Amino acid sequence: MSGAAEAEIQTFVPKATEIAREAGARLREYFIAGVETEYKGDVDLVTVADRTVEKLIRERLGEIFPEHGIYGEEGTRERLDAEYRWYVDPLDGTTNFAHGFPQFCVSMGLEHRPKGTKLEDDGTLVAGVIYDPMRDELFTAERGRGTKVNGKLARVSSVVILAEALLATGFPSRKRHASPNIHFYQEFTLRSHGVRRAGSAALDLAYVACGRLDGFWEFNLNPWDTAAGILLVEEAGGRVTNFAGAHYRLASDEILASNGLIQEELIGFFNDMFAGRDLSPIPTAEEFARARRSREKGEANSP
Ligand code: IPD
Ligand code: CA
Ligand code: CA
Repeated sequence: MSGAAEAEIQTFVPKATEIAREAGARLREYFIAGVETEYKGDVDLVTVADRTVEKLIRERLGEIFPEHGIYGEEGTRERLDAEYRWYVDPLDGTTNFAHGFPQFCVSMGLEHRPKGTKLEDDGTLVAGVIYDPMRDELFTAERGRGTKVNGKLARVSSVVILAEALLATGFPSRKRHASPNIHFYQEFTLRSHGVRRAGSAALDLAYVACGRLDGFWEFNLNPWDTAAGILLVEEAGGRVTNFAGAHYRLASDEILASNGLIQEELIGFFNDMFAGRDLSPIPTAEEFARARRSREKGEANSP
């Protein structure tokens, strides 16, 4: 890469940071004022904040990087044949936001797609910015230059076994009935220090990157949820794959991210789960109710 191209790349994160901070300030104002919630689907919520902030980011990116493409959750599809493409989630954690639960962020990830990249192929993630306006925490990464939290270099955790790991996951708001994730939630809960479901996949990935979480998985995320976070994790020394351990692609239906040290154990565990091996039965609600009734009646030997 030429010196000029290198110098240009180094302006991406600082400029995107300004945009993410402005976007985050708008989210905070809306959050404090309170907003009406609409439904995109079943329990798929959207608010005026999601739409207004995506518009703001689209306009700012258009002013600063007029040649870059933009792919945003709230419908932005601009210059998708460009050499650089931003994946934008203006508000990751809308359900939290709508309920006044202060866990949400702005997420912007940049993919380099050199001329000749086939439509179905990924380019290379080169920049990522995630901003949590409620904690004023800024997570940034540049390919080859590490991950930073509020300007300080960050690393993934050093936990080496799943039994000592703190994990996170999330559940889809569309086609909820088709998701098997509750089974994985149960099994991982029994095999680790616990599984958090905090409601913002981008922040979950940012937390893996800075060692607050040791691993994260989810089914059916979109590139606007993951693009920035993947680079944060990788640049902080972690690993991101699908559940089978294969290279993660932006269109993938499965994401598994960790500090790298527990990745193989997690992958092995996914293999076992998909094959129905080593599952830990827990009582059904009905069985539990029966045991509870017996306990109430003072019957001996009830669990
Ligand atoms: C959601 C959040 C959540 C995850 C959902 C996503 P949104 O994004 O990242 O943590 O579990 O799958 O859709 O809708 O709040 O931008
Ligand atoms: Ca999202
Ligand atoms: Ca969103």
